[in-house]
Amino acid sequence: MPKDVIKINNWNGAKPSGEIFVIYFSSLSNNTHRFVEKINVPSQRIDVNLEKKLLVNQDFVLITPTYGGGGDDDEGSVPIQVKKFLNEKNNRDHCKGVIASGNTNFGNGFALAGPIISKKLNVPLLYQFELLGTSEDVNRIKEILKNFWGKK
Ligand SMILES: Cc1cc2nc3c(=O)[nH]c(=O)nc-3n(C[C@H](O)[C@H](O)[C@H](O)COP(=O)(O)O)c2cc1C
Repeated sequence: MPKDVIKINNWNGAKPSGEIFVIYFSSLSNNTHRFVEKINVPSQRIDVNLEKKLLVNQDFVLITPTYGGGGDDDEGSVPIQVKKFLNEKNNRDHCKGVIASGNTNFGNGFALAGPIISKKLNVPLLYQFELLGTSEDVNRIKEILKNFWGKK
């Protein structure tokens, strides 16, 4: 992972307000969708269809898979649907943190969408997980979201 990535333990910037909320993208393979179901928090999905526009008016953490060809800092690693969503300034402003998934077979390109978005938006990278995530990933992300929002 790039050394200059913003991690939650050295983050003194803005925290989200309101209630815990997740925006996520998942392709037709639905790995991320199934993961988000398991963390069981209010969420909304970015449609795979680029024609469908999603506008968000509350703070959220973004969960996204990585779609690149491997390699290092490759902007192509962020799904096009996520890029389009983040091109809306209002959506971008409400994005307070990012969680990314991927497949470790991609080596240095593993879950690279996370550090790329973190740096672009200047928000912390909260977590990275593989494919469907393990039950430990589910528990850790639930805790991370609660702490990030300052909920007990
Ligand atoms: C064409 C393709 C490219 C991928 N590129 C990467 C990659 O660069 N890095 C990575 O960590 N995972 C990569 N993956 C793995 C996906 O991020 C992983 O399967 C993820 O769980 C898919 O989530 P989804 O089913 O919600 O879309 C790629 C998968 C595919 C099919």
